[in-house]
Amino acid sequence: MLIKSIRASDAKPSEITPKSVYMDRRRFLQTAAAGAALASFANGPAGAAKIDGIKKWPGSLTSEKLTPLDSIASYNNFYEFGTDKSDPVRNARFFMPRPWTVAIGGEVAKPATVDLDALLKPHTPEERIYRMRCVEAWSMVIPWVGIPLADVLKRFEPTSKAKFVAFETLNDPKRMPGQAVPSLQWPYVEGLRIDEAMHPLTLLAVGIYDEDMPNQNGAPLRLVVPWKYGFKGIKSIVKISLVEKQPPTSWNIAAPNEYGFFSNVNPKVDHQRWSQAKERRSGEFLRRDTLMFNGYGDEVASMYTGLDLKANY
Ligand code: MTE
Repeated sequence: MLIKSIRASDAKPSEITPKSVYMDRRRFLQTAAAGAALASFANGPAGAAKIDGIKKWPGSLTSEKLTPLDSIASYNNFYEFGTDKSDPVRNARFFMPRPWTVAIGGEVAKPATVDLDALLKPHTPEERIYRMRCVEAWSMVIPWVGIPLADVLKRFEPTSKAKFVAFETLNDPKRMPGQAVPSLQWPYVEGLRIDEAMHPLTLLAVGIYDEDMPNQNGAPLRLVVPWKYGFKGIKSIVKISLVEKQPPTSWNIAAPNEYGFFSNVNPKVDHQRWSQAKERRSGEFLRRDTLMFNGYGDEVASMYTGLDLKANY
């Protein structure tokens, strides 16, 4: 999966705040800062700089055409609901993503298990839920809705030993029938280095097109990392642990030669079984060049200075 995003300032006000289920809209509108930001979102074109007193979206601009929701929600990888890309939409339809709690612990001063709705509530006027577009390797441009992971993690006060962040999906074969077979090692796990996790482009996504996250796309809460391949986007997260050592990741466990820890989009590093130099998008016939870091070099390349990206794929 490849990902691109838009600046929040490119979004219409109606696009910025998702369904009230994600956040207390009244509280959101209470602050003058938020009000001012809404005005500038409404009036301003690109200029994220116009948004004063509120977090500015650092993502790159893209005007690419969005993929229709029914395409986004009918072609999925979610092995907990089957290994075929058409399985999740069928097998996840009765999955209940509420109530939902997320345990945040490890190297943090304030570990806690938090109800999802509380987790998504902004704690400061600067915290916002954003909208961003993502391009999946098999062809989609997705308008995710989510909160920067950094905003959430900071509340739990990571210690100086927190060098990585480990994520875990719900492990419940009764609710996720694909877990009854060992297609992967369960639970699905993922990880990021702490600087990657704290990067403002890294999102805890809760919806698509201002709607609740479809079950098959990872309800109620999933990771979106715009400059990495799609398999880093762990779905249905129940646990986030800040850790000292690099955590295991599901696809690396399954096929270490094919899937590394970093998984940065890199046209120069081929997958064992295919070239990653080109990608084909939904609705397009011709393949296009894949961009280094999925086009986010300006924002993220500095995190990898001095790292051999061929060895650390
Ligand atoms: N998360 C869990 N828990 N289980 C999975 O099988 N598949 C990954 C990722 N997250 C997966 C997962 C892979 S391989 C991809 S490409 C993306 O989810 C697909 O996300 P999408 O279905 O929303 O496009």
